[in-house]
Amino acid sequence: MEKEKVTPEVIKRKKIEGEKITALTAYDYPTALCLNEAGIDMILVGDSLGMVVLGYRNTLKVTMENMLDHCRAVARANSTALLIGDMPFLSCTTSVPDAVRNAGRMIQEGEMEAVKVEGGSDMAEAVSAIVRAGIPVLGHIGFTPQQTLKHGRKKVQGRDRSSVEKLLGDATAVEQAGAFAIVLECLTESCAKEVTKKLSIPTIGIGSGIYCDGQILVTSDMLGLYESASFKHVKRYADVAPVMKKAFKEYIREVKEVKFPGKEHTFH
Ligand code: KIV
Repeated sequence: MEKEKVTPEVIKRKKIEGEKITALTAYDYPTALCLNEAGIDMILVGDSLGMVVLGYRNTLKVTMENMLDHCRAVARANSTALLIGDMPFLSCTTSVPDAVRNAGRMIQEGEMEAVKVEGGSDMAEAVSAIVRAGIPVLGHIGFTPQQTLKHGRKKVQGRDRSSVEKLLGDATAVEQAGAFAIVLECLTESCAKEVTKKLSIPTIGIGSGIYCDGQILVTSDMLGLYESASFKHVKRYADVAPVMKKAFKEYIREVKEVKFPGKEHTFH
């Protein structure tokens, strides 16, 4: 059976029907092709692009222009997944009109179908204006990487009651602003469970345990594209870096030993 085109309404329906939602990131055409063929529900062109593709230390240097290029590459490969473009640092926070304009660029120039906005109550006005403009929004609370200069390294949220109350308030504000779903990053399992129970929109967890309505991971992390230490919440489904290195070494050796190109790779 062919997979139906995923829309924000389909994502909301999955929560009602108790079907888990699947999401991963992509930044390029071949990865997006594979994700589509695998039948993923949502593809996020995340600003994690900064670290996993562009080699920055964090997400803060990622620009709208960087995002738009990668969004277009992913969009060219997509047929059924819901495409979400991450609003990069400063694209949403300078003013509400800037937020709407930049979200509009994600749709018109980046060929995305929704945008992700980091932040809770503080971003509710911007989320509401973007939704009013006709652009579906995926919220993102908990650990928010664009606040890294303020908060420092990745920290688990919701360990005490006041933190849980703050997260519940943020999640509710984002829901009331009109978001169709919300990412919960690095919440304790019990806090994520409470947020998920309280909201009528789906929660998509990353490092937030099993009770979220769906899960997202950074694809480069779950594929093991880097051999560096990874976070506790990341499960490695593959170990791609050693496979790539092995192939590169073999190629280098064969070129040096004049074994490649062989007869079968040569035009006569
Ligand atoms: O940029 C990103 O990849 C993200 C996910 C971690 C949710 O925001």
